Amino acid sequence: MRVLSGIQPSGILHIGNYFGMMQPSVELQHQHSCYYFIADYHALTSLQDAEALRQNVKEAVIDFIACGLDIEKTVLFRQSAIPEVHELAWYLSTLTPMGLLERCTSYKDKLAKGITPSHGLFAYPVLMAADILLYQAELVPVGKDQKQHLEVARDLAQKFNDTYGEVFKIPEPQIRKETAVLPGTDGQKMSKSYNNTVEIFAEEKTFRKRIMSIKTDSTPVEDPKPIEDSILLEIADAVGNGNAIDEMRAAMEKGGVGYGDLKKQLFQLLWTYFEPMREKRQEIVKEDGYWLEVLEKGEIRARETAKTTLEQVRQAVGIR
Ligand code: ADP
Ligand code: TRP
Repeated sequence: MRVLSGIQPSGILHIGNYFGMMQPSVELQHQHSCYYFIADYHALTSLQDAEALRQNVKEAVIDFIACGLDIEKTVLFRQSAIPEVHELAWYLSTLTPMGLLERCTSYKDKLAKGITPSHGLFAYPVLMAADILLYQAELVPVGKDQKQHLEVARDLAQKFNDTYGEVFKIPEPQIRKETAVLPGTDGQKMSKSYNNTVEIFAEEKTFRKRIMSIKTDSTPVEDPKPIEDSILLEIADAVGNGNAIDEMRAAMEKGGVGYGDLKKQLFQLLWTYFEPMREKRQEIVKEDGYWLEVLEKGEIRARETAKTTLEQVRQAVGIR
């Protein structure tokens, strides 16, 4: 099965991105044909600084490989290496009802966060649908915030097939229940726009500080702590079901342990979990140009697939 996902190079990787999108993507590479890309065209809707964009693309590639992407098995590429995606986006946009885009909550959310409304931001889901359909993806691992965009992609694939004949597979989102929306340090969705993130590759001191800043209630040390909606436990649960998490939960239920100590436990859990990835990252950073070689290799394979689909699409619509 073809699996595909993308991440915008618009900031620094946080544990919400990791558990929501990156970890599931890496796991799927063992059984499927996986295409992952750095959505630099999409990032232009919020980042208009050429140097920062170039740097972020590089960091995103390095992060992805450090987080376990096997570059022999997967195709990793820059969205902009295959500019033909815009051609497909155009065909799709001619089939996109305005109302479909007007209903997209992420557009409204972004305006609420102060991002200037632009045509690019409004049409964002059409380009995302083109990303998915160009590579004939069947499964798309993402966090819950992308669910509506996947619905747009499915609608457009169906509409294209109904209008011009069967060309596209209908993609399915894969959204993990446990980490669909990982909370940030303030309890809202962890997001780089809310300043509530824990960055995976932050220095130890900063990482610890972020964990220690997680919002907790004022239950006294000796009392049992509420388990329901506990940010600490939700983050701990994302790591897995090991003994350390059971111990944390038991300690909270029993009482006698303060939030400070529980946060230290959570810090240790995460710091240890990400240790192999930090080490891998340090190695990759040392190999100058390696990230670019990986991209170039991926881009050759991505181009072949894109070309095949686009030929079918042009035939179907009557262009050329
Ligand atoms: P951000 O909200 O920080 O800007 P992005 O929109 O760049 O993050 O998201 C990149 C990927 O990470 C998407 O698949 C998204 O669904 C996932 N993701 C982001 N934040 C979270 C979160 N808090 N919990 C689960 N998945 C998330
Ligand atoms: N919109 C996604 C995000 O903000 C990034 C993205 C762009 C994407 N194109 C995609 C994700 C195609 C999955 C499939 O995270």
